[in-house]
Amino acid sequence: MEIKNIIGNALKIKSPDELIATSKKSELKKTLNVFDLIVIGIGAVVGTGIFTIIGTAIKGGPESVGAGPAIIISMVLACIACVFSALCYSEIAAMIPVAGSAYTYTYATMGEFMAWMVGWILMLEYAIGNITVACAWTGYFAQFLKGFKHILPDFVVNFPMWLRNDYRYMFAFCDKYGLDPHSQMPYIFDKIPVAINLPAIVIVLLLTILLIRGVKESTRFASVMVGVNMFMIISFICVGAFYVKPENWTPFVSNGFEGIFMGAFLIFFAYIGFDAISTTAEETENPQRDLPIAILGTLVICTVLYVCVALVLTGTVPLANIDIQAPIAHAMRAVGKDWFAGLISIGALCALTSVILIYQLGTTRILYAMSRDRFLPKSLRLIHKKYRTPHVLTWISGIVVIICALFMDLNISAELCNYGTFTSFIIICIAVLILRKTDPDRPRPFKVPFSPLFPILGILTCGGLMVYSMKTLSTSSLYFPLWLLMGLAIYAGYGYKQKRLEEKIKIQRQPKSKVEV
Ligand code: ALA
Repeated sequence: MEIKNIIGNALKIKSPDELIATSKKSELKKTLNVFDLIVIGIGAVVGTGIFTIIGTAIKGGPESVGAGPAIIISMVLACIACVFSALCYSEIAAMIPVAGSAYTYTYATMGEFMAWMVGWILMLEYAIGNITVACAWTGYFAQFLKGFKHILPDFVVNFPMWLRNDYRYMFAFCDKYGLDPHSQMPYIFDKIPVAINLPAIVIVLLLTILLIRGVKESTRFASVMVGVNMFMIISFICVGAFYVKPENWTPFVSNGFEGIFMGAFLIFFAYIGFDAISTTAEETENPQRDLPIAILGTLVICTVLYVCVALVLTGTVPLANIDIQAPIAHAMRAVGKDWFAGLISIGALCALTSVILIYQLGTTRILYAMSRDRFLPKSLRLIHKKYRTPHVLTWISGIVVIICALFMDLNISAELCNYGTFTSFIIICIAVLILRKTDPDRPRPFKVPFSPLFPILGILTCGGLMVYSMKTLSTSSLYFPLWLLMGLAIYAGYGYKQKRLEEKIKIQRQPKSKVEV
């Protein structure tokens, strides 16, 4: 009986009508059109994936082999995995145009427990993903300084390695080149090595302070960032095309299917973020029409750009020389265009800054919604008296990113972020299948074509890439289940009890409210 009760409670859903009614009370202005949505989409999508991770996806990393020039096949594969999920996002976002993205949709379909787990998993996408972006920021910051080496003093251009890498990277570096770690970093009491990714920490700290002071996620700001971004990427394609040597494209497939699949898994990071469009559903003029167009439009634009960037990058720099920290800027330095590498770095820094900002905002929005649903303590959603922002949650998410950046590297955090996002995509595909059965009559302004085939293909492609990479990536495939277990423990020890307490309080209040009515 007790077990049946627990399962019944864990499966309690928030009905779509309840969600829509709550959103109608929302005071958010409905001002966004399809162009604004695509700008937000590109602002959230274009960042570390194309500016940094592409290097590892092409060349290979500590735990994976690279795709080589066949990265363009990996990109198309990753895009296909995204398209099925994007169609599913579009169907639900147009049907239930409520803020909160996957967390909210799961609450409406699979109940309380899965909603909590999805919220917890989304933290991997947003907060842990931000560690990747912050680390990549450092890589481009260093390239930016190098681009201006004729103007800046040498100690600034070549600032010490222990101030721009975590200690694990420093040990791996010393190991690789047979160096004594004591000669490369300072030690506290001769025992504790000191190596911190200072630029990453500083940028996260600055953006956290900015967010607390109430930065509005205005599309104007996003437009400027996206404008600079797009300009730099298109310039790279146009300028780089003149330096392409087709012989660099052979062999086209460096490591067979393994390289292509691992490349697809890693470059998937470059596509993450289009789901951020669905979080703005309540602020969209015509969500039913515009959300699907914007989500799919963003994916198509990004894929075309990414494939062009990959062709130019692999065509200009021989495989062995591709840089893994800032490959795009490095490619321009490799062809003797230092000043252009500096400009590319500015574009990359703009792109990465906007991704960090949007993701930090996303983290706090989701945590705020979860705490409003009593999954997290009320004290966390305190609003700053002067700035009217959830400052406690903003600080917590900023500090978590900073602490993790002290020991997690870019690749591990990107892999974890990918696992989290694949899982949330799979859940969205399942949610579409469930809603088609449980709520078949609800108006669907946009329908996934060929359902149930397309949602099932979404589950298979995302699940396939995830399982395939788990065989190879030993560190992140260990951390991911640990993260899920941690989420389960917090739900069992806190969230579940709080939800029951909430129900009790509601029941106790009922007679009183009836009297008032
Ligand atoms: N797609 C985002 C990026 O590449 C997360 O930075």
